[in-house]
Amino acid sequence: MSAVTDSKRQFSRDEYFQDPQRYFTRLREKRPVAPVDLPGGSRAWLVTRYEDVRAALADPRLAKDPRKLYPGWEPGRVESMFNLHMLNLDPPDHTRLRRLVQKAFTPGRVSALRPRVEEITTALLDATEAIAAKSGDGIVDLLDQFAFRLPITVICELLGVPARDQDDFREWTSALLSPVGEPPADADQEREMPRDAAHAMFDYFTRLIEAKRESPADDLLSALISVRDGAGQENGAGSGKAAGPGDALTEGELYAMVFLLLVAGFETTVNLIASGTLALLTFPDEMARLRADPSLLPAAVEELLRYTNPLNHATERFTVADLPIGDVVIPAGEPVTLVTSSANRDPGRFGNPDQLDLTRDTSGHVAFGHGIHYCLGAPLARLEGEVAFGALLTQFPALSLAVPPAQLRWRPSSLFHGLESLPVRLR
Ligand code: HEM
Repeated sequence: MSAVTDSKRQFSRDEYFQDPQRYFTRLREKRPVAPVDLPGGSRAWLVTRYEDVRAALADPRLAKDPRKLYPGWEPGRVESMFNLHMLNLDPPDHTRLRRLVQKAFTPGRVSALRPRVEEITTALLDATEAIAAKSGDGIVDLLDQFAFRLPITVICELLGVPARDQDDFREWTSALLSPVGEPPADADQEREMPRDAAHAMFDYFTRLIEAKRESPADDLLSALISVRDGAGQENGAGSGKAAGPGDALTEGELYAMVFLLLVAGFETTVNLIASGTLALLTFPDEMARLRADPSLLPAAVEELLRYTNPLNHATERFTVADLPIGDVVIPAGEPVTLVTSSANRDPGRFGNPDQLDLTRDTSGHVAFGHGIHYCLGAPLARLEGEVAFGALLTQFPALSLAVPPAQLRWRPSSLFHGLESLPVRLR
């Protein structure tokens, strides 16, 4: 596959990470369906226009299960945990796995969590304020103290993972998700996963699952273990090891599910809260509007999702048949990256897309994807966003950025678009 040489020449890895929209805008305008070397190291066809991205997200000619692309590939237990979760599977496996957890994430079930999310938010903001007060200059990293801690605390509680282990997760996932070194020179050479972090996480889950097997609790992990062990009531799973294929969960799938829910549950929402706060600080008139009228919060969260794009793009798919998009035909067997962040800034769909406008029509934005893999946790992320922005603006009327915006750095990740830190003054 050839690379888009002009974009390679003009965009270093760092330029891509620091301002991916500039890179995507250029592609969207010049070559909306293009084979490129992504600065994260992977190679894929990039699709950057709204209509194309949204249509492709729901197109069954784009598949996920890596075993279809690499027949004969048999991942080990640790590799399976990272690769064979529902987000990387196709029907019917995807349908079966999603159904097992769907009920825990419906808007109704999630709205019952609001009081607890508010409680966690208040405690975290109080702690953040105390740290700022002690710091001498009143500056605190809002990402570290608040934006990261809120979603991870919530998802850990839902799953039944001890909150004290949060920092370990953060370390492991950032080692696992950040690109390391330069892209491989040889197209067939896969990027190696950082072994230590992968094994540490796998061993942690092994101990956790054993402990929950011995003393189940009222949490999602215990419910999943009971489905795995054949005693689950989820979706009428019935009892006995011979549960039907509609109910089954293998041991490997159990690990992969816990990995996916945990990582998807916090690596994204941290970015919504931190980048969303930065966006509000960058557009003070919009922030003032929201402060004056908190009923705008749900709409504001949608616009902040569209504008900030916690994920640069959807996770990788590949063609299982020739796929025409616009005037290009992507041949079967090719990796495809659907650039949701570019779609959300496509002027053909959202007028004046680089302006934050909390009351614009955001319907159809693709920050949560579209089609069968549409974000399972969207109701939870929306709730956390509403509570977080609402509390921040009410509690800290003088909230301000503590460094010039140009000093802020974005994490070197191709998939996740998130700040490294967000130094603010609360008062
Ligand atoms: C602002 C926060 C979030 C954003 C922007 C986001 C975004 C996304 C996107 C774009 C996808 C689809 C990816 C693709 O098609 O390749 C997705 C899938 C998924 N998300 Fe989220 N997500 C967020 C929060 C959450 C939370 C809190 C959870 C909680 C567990 C979660 C769990 C999942 C799961 C399990 C999937 C896979 C669904 C499937 O394959 O059917 N996400 N998310």
